[in-house]
Amino acid sequence: MVCDILITNIKGLVQVRESTPLPLKGKAMDELPVLKNAWLAIKDEIIFDYGLMPDLPGNCSATQTIDAAHRFVFPSFVDSHTHLVFAASREEEFVMKIKGASYEQIAASGGGILNSAKKLQQISEDELFERSLVRAKEIIQSGTGVVEIKSGYGLTTADELKMLRVARRIGKETPLTVRTTFLGAHAVPKEVKKQDYIKQIIEEMIPAVAEENLADYIDVFCEQGFFSPEETEQIVERGKTFGLKPRIHANQLHRSGGVQAGVKTGALSVDHLENIGEEEIELLKNSTVMPTALPGAAFFLGLPFPPARNMIDAGLPLAIASDYNPGSAPSGNMSLMVALACIKMKMTPEEVINAATINTACALELQQAHGSITKGKTANIFITKPIPSIAFLPYAFGSNVIDTVILRGKVKP
Ligand code: NIG
Ligand code: FE
Repeated sequence: MVCDILITNIKGLVQVRESTPLPLKGKAMDELPVLKNAWLAIKDEIIFDYGLMPDLPGNCSATQTIDAAHRFVFPSFVDSHTHLVFAASREEEFVMKIKGASYEQIAASGGGILNSAKKLQQISEDELFERSLVRAKEIIQSGTGVVEIKSGYGLTTADELKMLRVARRIGKETPLTVRTTFLGAHAVPKEVKKQDYIKQIIEEMIPAVAEENLADYIDVFCEQGFFSPEETEQIVERGKTFGLKPRIHANQLHRSGGVQAGVKTGALSVDHLENIGEEEIELLKNSTVMPTALPGAAFFLGLPFPPARNMIDAGLPLAIASDYNPGSAPSGNMSLMVALACIKMKMTPEEVINAATINTACALELQQAHGSITKGKTANIFITKPIPSIAFLPYAFGSNVIDTVILRGKVKP
């Protein structure tokens, strides 16, 4: 066997699946296949082969061999919901929140999304790229291999296109696999009537985004004070006619009808879900929509966490993403999201690893190439430091247990 990278003596090769599973649901989420004392071979950017150490072929020649004794190898995280392209941080609002202001009060006073839009409109596309690239490099080092990036801080046609071009460029100039989502309906710009803005989204923005092939998906912030379920449907239905599949910001601050809008329009995912009950869980059970929790946002805003146990126990699948953005989740660190999901949502380490790899890959329609250690998939993995167990990763929250990152078959310096 001839390969580029051979990793030997792996204490545990995590998430090994011979074939790509469908989204993992209910009890199946708690099953995480691990090969103990394993090897993994990478060739031409793909996972070439793997097996147990006693079965390692004798005639094996590799350009580089890595001894992973006492270490685990994981498939890279797939982060299916971020707003990674933004101009500037918003820690001044963070301090306002500490002193008692709510997310909605900050938004109503011109802060929040409108604050981010103002800053983004003032800088060039190149400058926006440079600032966003720093974050892209940061998430690479923290183990992410695939990332979804939304627009929604432009709020004018030119600035929404600018954001999406930057997101596409991150996919070209880094080893990250990037999926992009048009989120023009993130907030209504100041001094524009909502109906006029919706008209602009429908008549101008969606066709322009599609014309340049800048987005894979369409999203709407379905929330009181932002966009109603009816408006959400109207916008995503228009997007669908241009080939943009929906994914919805649903039920973050209120029981907003976002889940209903997502199910009705055949969304790929409904994300947030801090405010759902039995009715939404029942609806999701009869759909193919991927419920997605964003524990970083619930943590940062002090919101109730999505009822993950009820959802999984009802037989639903669940995905976990970071929501990396300057207002509600200023971290794209998936190890931390996984830890929060265990600690605050009572998910098992096995469930959260499945939720943050194969289920997020399914939510981005990339399960054929990402989300598990499977022959032929993209060689996106990370090797941990010497750690005692898989559960140590979420347990040691705040510690970086990732030692080596390999993306598209290349070790990241
Ligand atoms: O997913 N909720 C809507 N959008 C983002 C936050 C945007 C912001 O505050 O800048 C989110 O939490
Ligand atoms: Fe979001």
